[in-house]
Amino acid sequence: MSDKAILEINGEKHEFPIMKGTENEVAIDIKTLRGTTKGVITLDSGYKNTGSCKSAITFLDGEKGILRYRGYTIEELAEKADFLEVAYLLIFGDLPNKEELDKFHSDIKKHSVVDDDVKKIIDAFPKSAHPMGVLSSLTSALTAFNPESVNVDSEEDMYNAIVRLMGKLPILVAWSMRKKKGLPLHYGDSSLGYVENLLKMMFKQPNEEVYEQNPILVDALDKLLILHADHEQNCSTSTVRITGSSHAGLFVSIAAGISALWGPLHGGANQAVLEMLEAIKEDGGDTKKYMAKAKDKSDPFRLMGFGHRVYKNFDPRAKIIKVAADEVLGDLGVEDPILDIAKGLEKEALEDQYFVDRKLYPNVDFYSGIIYRAMGIPTEMFTVMFALGRLPGWIAQWREMRLNKEPIGRPRQLYIGENERSFKSIEKR
Ligand code: CMC
Repeated sequence: MSDKAILEINGEKHEFPIMKGTENEVAIDIKTLRGTTKGVITLDSGYKNTGSCKSAITFLDGEKGILRYRGYTIEELAEKADFLEVAYLLIFGDLPNKEELDKFHSDIKKHSVVDDDVKKIIDAFPKSAHPMGVLSSLTSALTAFNPESVNVDSEEDMYNAIVRLMGKLPILVAWSMRKKKGLPLHYGDSSLGYVENLLKMMFKQPNEEVYEQNPILVDALDKLLILHADHEQNCSTSTVRITGSSHAGLFVSIAAGISALWGPLHGGANQAVLEMLEAIKEDGGDTKKYMAKAKDKSDPFRLMGFGHRVYKNFDPRAKIIKVAADEVLGDLGVEDPILDIAKGLEKEALEDQYFVDRKLYPNVDFYSGIIYRAMGIPTEMFTVMFALGRLPGWIAQWREMRLNKEPIGRPRQLYIGENERSFKSIEKR
């Protein structure tokens, strides 16, 4: 392949360098386009063809169904690593040795408290508040309690902000659920592992002396968090990078990412999937009816948990989660008719020409809610769990953007509004 691309506009040729990634991905570098063409820009709504950055964190091949964090396959990491190791890998670039992991965990634990006044903010929310709204607000509010995390100019400052957030977010996650359930809020137990501590903070009942850890739940949650930990330049991650590109601090950049994740086309899909499966069950389990609705262009209904902007073969995370859902429900002795509806729907969709033609496969959110539900996590908390899993990915991407000294993100537009016109006084309008 040539190392340059040529664009002809009005008979004039403009050359642009072609760049190659380590996996032979190809990009045309158009940074000189506007200058040399005197104002021409590219237009690509939804960024279907536009790379926003160079990144060394996650590689994804949607055609082959490949997902790797820092070179390691998602299959191997989900089987062999734990969430904190994966977090370290994503953020710092390599798997930690024992000493590095212990230090990372111990630094996180030092910051696994929040100012007790945060409880007052939680108290001000109505019980009906969606926990994603609560989590985003509280993450932003952390900035007020930790002003030193705002201006980060050195790697050391960044590290301090990172371990603070890794320590504090699980508390906010647990509290956003406990508030909804009317349970007292309490801090974790620093003698526990990261995931065990989270489970205890979420589920310990006020009238029980000791919270008994269930290793099936610990393993399942660990795996789910790893599977969600990063996914290159998706909607929420791009939001984190673009927010941070103005040199906004880490906490508010992540709060922006949490808001972006909330939507049902992104992380909110896991809640939407469960609600859809419930609705199908309530409606007598007629999956064919819902398949027809999903294909009907006059009906806004979409088969939630199906389709992906990048995966056009299968989502490797969905494959792992489907097996995990069977195992976890089996191990916990839970029989959930929703799982059968999900499997039936998947089978029908995979054989249906509409879905085959559009390369629509189950994505990560299709089965994750079934596991969360079996673990006793309320439906409205599913996206919150996704957010906690995605935290190391967002942090890694924010850190990379800052260390690469990327310029402020500021897209252009094609203006299609009115030309200049004169102001009309109110009587003449
Ligand atoms: N059900 C029915 N039709 C669909 C679906 C679906 N779930 N997804 C895409 N299509 C159709 C769409 O109508 C379009 O058809 P046509 O070409 O006839 O107009 C075609 O497939 C291409 O869809 P698109 O909306 O242009 O594709 P996109 O890349 O812009 O959107 C998506 C990707 C994930 C937003 C979309 O597939 C979707 O809305 N899926 C359901 C929501 C969901 O499960 N989201 C979670 C994504 S994975 C986790 C995450 O990102 O957080």
